[in-house]
Amino acid sequence: MQRTVPTNNTLLVDGPARVVVASGKAEVFGKPLTPTQRVIIREGKRKPFYATEPLTLNLLLGAGATVTETEGSTIPQSWNKPFPVIEDLQNRQVKTVTIMVLGASDAGKSSFLTYLLNRLLLGKNACSVAVLDGDLGQSDIGPSATIGYSITSKPVTELSNLKLENGYFVGVTSPVNAGAKAVEGLTAMLTEINLRQPDYILINTDGFVIGEAALRYKLTLIKELKPNMVIGIEGKGEVAEIMSYLGGAGVMTVESAGTASERSPEKRKALREQTYTRYLRHSKLHCIPVSQLVVEPRNGVPKTQSPDRGILVGLYHYGTKFLGVGVLREINIERYTLKIETAVSKKPVRLVFGKVLLDRKLREVQGQT
Ligand SMILES: Nc1ncnc2c1ncn2[C@@H]1O[C@H](COP(=O)(O)OP(=O)(O)OP(=O)(O)O)[C@@H](O)[C@H]1O
Ligand SMILES: [Mg+2]
Repeated sequence: MQRTVPTNNTLLVDGPARVVVASGKAEVFGKPLTPTQRVIIREGKRKPFYATEPLTLNLLLGAGATVTETEGSTIPQSWNKPFPVIEDLQNRQVKTVTIMVLGASDAGKSSFLTYLLNRLLLGKNACSVAVLDGDLGQSDIGPSATIGYSITSKPVTELSNLKLENGYFVGVTSPVNAGAKAVEGLTAMLTEINLRQPDYILINTDGFVIGEAALRYKLTLIKELKPNMVIGIEGKGEVAEIMSYLGGAGVMTVESAGTASERSPEKRKALREQTYTRYLRHSKLHCIPVSQLVVEPRNGVPKTQSPDRGILVGLYHYGTKFLGVGVLREINIERYTLKIETAVSKKPVRLVFGKVLLDRKLREVQGQT
């Protein structure tokens, strides 16, 4: 189907869909698009195509995809609030500006970060931006249950188009009972990123913002990671309490987009499963003797293992080099070997057990490991 969009209007496309610019110019979260550029919108995701001049799009819509047109841009004006503060920090010789984003689920954290990334990259010549993804449940970089980062100098229409450079496997999809490990992982990844001296570091966080435990976790993160700026995305007062504990020029709230779309728990689960599928594509079964691995926790190897309830594991090379994830499918107790489904071809030297259980189709199943 073909659609024309007048200048200054936005076409909101809910996936699954594929969009190609036939003529004219558009912006998706601040990334400019010109004819023949193609954009994929996965199921459960929405992308806004803002026409900066008369625009014609060719759309291929999958089952359940929808298209709606609205007047003007769907990027709230307040999303531009950080730029003068960033400039001010740079004028004060801050070499790497680190920005942490907070917000409830579906507040628009990933979209806002995409917009920030694109605007920063387009505003200055040859700059590099690191994105550190601390959202374990709705990961954009790396598989779910993993903290990942990427460093880029090219704009993107979504953060999941960024290449995973290194990761830290936490093993669960929520920080609720794994706060200390998540903080440890984020700190380790941030230290690694800083060694590469990017111009900016953008930190995404999870949507756990309401209540005492969430407040404590977020304040610990801020204390440990010491960002120059903390930006809260406010919908209906979800981040007000956390923000009230913070102060200074680098602390601000921006609005959630009125066009942000909410996802059901089932959709969120399906999106997590998409990340396992992506990182386990072309997997093979590898048989690894336990004696050739450092296993964490040391008593983590189960006595029996059902292939229908495989345990998600993180695989590492030497040091902190994350190789990818795998799924423990079988155990041979006599030979003491593990049968692991993974797309990692390098021989891992360290294996970390997670708590996520996956069936043979990589769907999350409930239960204890
Ligand atoms: N400014 C905007 N214009 C159009 N759509 C938007 C905008 N902001 C967010 N959305 C849409 O709303 C949905 C939720 O936004 P997003 O994924 O950025 O939120 P999130 O806070 O990262 O959510 P999660 O907690 O699931 O990670 C997405 O489909 C996104 O495309
Ligand atoms: Mg997100």
